[in-house]
Amino acid sequence: MVERIEEIEAEAKAAVEAAGSASELEEARVRYLGRKAELTGILRGIADLPPEQRGPVGSTGNKVRKALEAMIEEKAEGLRNAELERSLAEDRIDVTLPGSPARAAGHIHPITRTRRMIEDVMIGLGYQVMEGPEVEHDYYNFTALNHPEGHPARMLQDTFYVEAEGHDEEVLLRTHTSPMQVRAMETNKPPLFMIVPGKTYRRDSDATHSPMFHQVEGLAVGEGITLADLKGTLLAMLREIFGPDREIRMRPHFFPFTEPSVEFDVSCFRCGGSGQLGDGSRCGLCKGIGWIELGGAGMVDPNVFGFVADAGYDPDSVTGFAFGFGIERIAMLRHGVGDLRLFFDNDVRMLEQFS
Ligand code: FA5
Repeated sequence: MVERIEEIEAEAKAAVEAAGSASELEEARVRYLGRKAELTGILRGIADLPPEQRGPVGSTGNKVRKALEAMIEEKAEGLRNAELERSLAEDRIDVTLPGSPARAAGHIHPITRTRRMIEDVMIGLGYQVMEGPEVEHDYYNFTALNHPEGHPARMLQDTFYVEAEGHDEEVLLRTHTSPMQVRAMETNKPPLFMIVPGKTYRRDSDATHSPMFHQVEGLAVGEGITLADLKGTLLAMLREIFGPDREIRMRPHFFPFTEPSVEFDVSCFRCGGSGQLGDGSRCGLCKGIGWIELGGAGMVDPNVFGFVADAGYDPDSVTGFAFGFGIERIAMLRHGVGDLRLFFDNDVRMLEQFS
């Protein structure tokens, strides 16, 4: 009988080991430890055995039953772990997959798009693109641009001042890209043809003015450069941007760092410069004027050359022109956007229209 129990043990162990799932394991448990199992029957019938067999059969049977129970429990645990591993591997979430529904790839911001277009046009005219610091010294933003301390023109460009350790003079967020005129001349000998696109800051806020906006500066310095060159350059640039039929006009103005100074306008590309639409109504874009104001310009003031005389800018031998205008204004005009702040609200529904 003891031998039979040992045979049952070997069979049961093999069956438990072979079980590949919870149900197969349960089947083996019922077969070898269930109510109708052979071993259960043997243990139940111990009392009917001859007295000398009761001891060995009882102890071997109980030992085998306990061993099988432990083995089944261990196997069940192993199967549960394997099942967990499998479901973790199969159900793993791939966080790198796009959400549902997948969003279209992003768009280049309309201001960046406009800036790049202007850069392309100016590179085509032989200009190099430079960058300058947005946090600037008062010296470059005002003083070297012929705005001495206390000059009233400083008030037109009220800005944000910055506490800068180790800097004795005042430091501010630049109010225009013009400080790069002086910085570029300090490190580049004439002739110099460069543009500077970048962020600028002022204490302004309405539908056409924001505290942070973008400008493009242009500077051309060399021998014999005249106001006619300025006009030709602006015309070539604006025809590339707004169409080949555009004209420009320059109106006298004042900037401390250019002399003479002008503001320049482009002929309205909606009404063709007549101020009237086809049905005789007033053109809303240029407000019936026929011209759209774009920016400021002028011939570099000899006083500015005085700040970079050591770098080779002798006002007796070189002349130059400079211009500056807002990128938002160009983008608003090109895309028919009435409120500049829409560019910075970052509403995707607004921005994705300009792809
Ligand atoms: C200037 O900033 C001069 N530095 C331009 C210049 C350069 C003159 C070189 C001569 C030689 P102004 O302040 O007018 O000029 O600004 C130029 C343009 O920047 C404006 O025509 C307008 O399009 C844009 N601009 C000015 N302030 C804001 C603002 N708060 N928000 C958006 N655009 C602005």
